[in-house]
Amino acid sequence: MAGSGPPAALLSPAYYQDPYPTFAWLRDNSPVHEFRFPAGDVRMWIVTRYEDVRTVLGDPRFSSEGGTWGSEEFKAAGLVSGAGSVLEKAVTVVDPPAHTRLRRLAMRAFTPRRVEEWRGIVTRTVAAALDHCRELGRFDVMEDYGGVVSAGVMGEVLGLRIERHEELVETLATVFPSDPALMERVPEGMARICGYAAQLVAEKGAAPGEDLVSDLVRAEEAGDRLSREELVALVAAMILAGSDTIRAFVGNAALALLDHPGQAALLRRRPELAPSAVEELLRYEGALSTALFRLVTEDMELDGTKLPAGAPVIAAILAGNRDPRRFDAPDRLDITRAGARHLALGHGLHNCLGAALARLEGEIAIPALFTRFPGLELALPREEIRYIDNWAMRRIERLPVESVPAGRAGRAG
Ligand code: HEM
Repeated sequence: MAGSGPPAALLSPAYYQDPYPTFAWLRDNSPVHEFRFPAGDVRMWIVTRYEDVRTVLGDPRFSSEGGTWGSEEFKAAGLVSGAGSVLEKAVTVVDPPAHTRLRRLAMRAFTPRRVEEWRGIVTRTVAAALDHCRELGRFDVMEDYGGVVSAGVMGEVLGLRIERHEELVETLATVFPSDPALMERVPEGMARICGYAAQLVAEKGAAPGEDLVSDLVRAEEAGDRLSREELVALVAAMILAGSDTIRAFVGNAALALLDHPGQAALLRRRPELAPSAVEELLRYEGALSTALFRLVTEDMELDGTKLPAGAPVIAAILAGNRDPRRFDAPDRLDITRAGARHLALGHGLHNCLGAALARLEGEIAIPALFTRFPGLELALPREEIRYIDNWAMRRIERLPVESVPAGRAGRAG
């Protein structure tokens, strides 16, 4: 029955618009699937079943150190994250014991007191963004809401002053390209992010304040501290990992609820469902379609497929989150769903360091949008919604909406 390959080739334009049929095909027909990564034409594998995604993220034979364990062609294609910059040693791309130490020091800044303070920052930022959206009447969830909230919160939490969010977003786009023609701009994007981080670390070192970066500068455990270079790498990693992800998630969640008005109404009626709604929205369509590259450290077999040492492997998080082997009716959005844990915030050692902040932003920003605008509707035909071409990030380009008065609700978009 199955044709000779997935419905849309991996990382092709059609795949970016709708990867789910391809994920379903791969889960059933080729769960550990060999393909060629377009940037550099590198031999690679992608895993799509829930259990295999967990294994790749949790088993130490899958390393995060591309420069150490990656195949020669992987390295030659420039796919080693942060190569040649301070980010080479960032928490995202090192294995234990270096990872254990960085992670422990970083976690010292994520105290319950700080997370509670973030609640105030998020609530204020969301309220101001919604006021502005109301003034606009018709607005773009990506730009005017998700973008403003993610940049505003990240800015205040880190103590970062990037006046132009556009610039940050553009810089982020250059560091995660899928188009081979854009690979040469990656170092330039990384350098700019590192520049923002270095400036911030220098400022907070000289005059510490009440923010995450100042906490990281102060963080100490058993006499051990982060070096200047490690601080810059960590802050840069947070900027990279914590800005556009939130924007993408707010957009995906808003669209999921617009597609399921019954679920949106339930969330409005029962605000106490916000935490489970966020977990379900993360499962249904979180911000990252895949984790960062993992590299196989020794010849091995995964789910019946042989993987050679050096093999780059992509764990398809969104495919795992829609695996019917794990989730009942996985394509259905059900904000009361309980049970199996999703993989949207990762799994294992590298699970999301900013998970508490991501959840907090989701729990405040998503219900608030639908409570403030009960008559929220798409302001363009559903089929015109486009996703960016990016192998790791699942983000809508534009999501124009308008708030329709009660009597007019339900008209065609
Ligand atoms: C909805 C928003 C977010 C999503 C979906 C998300 C998702 C993820 C995932 C899947 C990973 C694991 C990647 C891998 O194993 O290759 C990760 C790691 C990470 N995230 Fe998040 N994230 C979000 C928000 C944030 C925020 C707000 C921050 C910063 C405060 C952040 C900081 C990090 C860092 C530093 C890591 C690397 C941790 C490590 O390697 O030990 N993330 N995130």
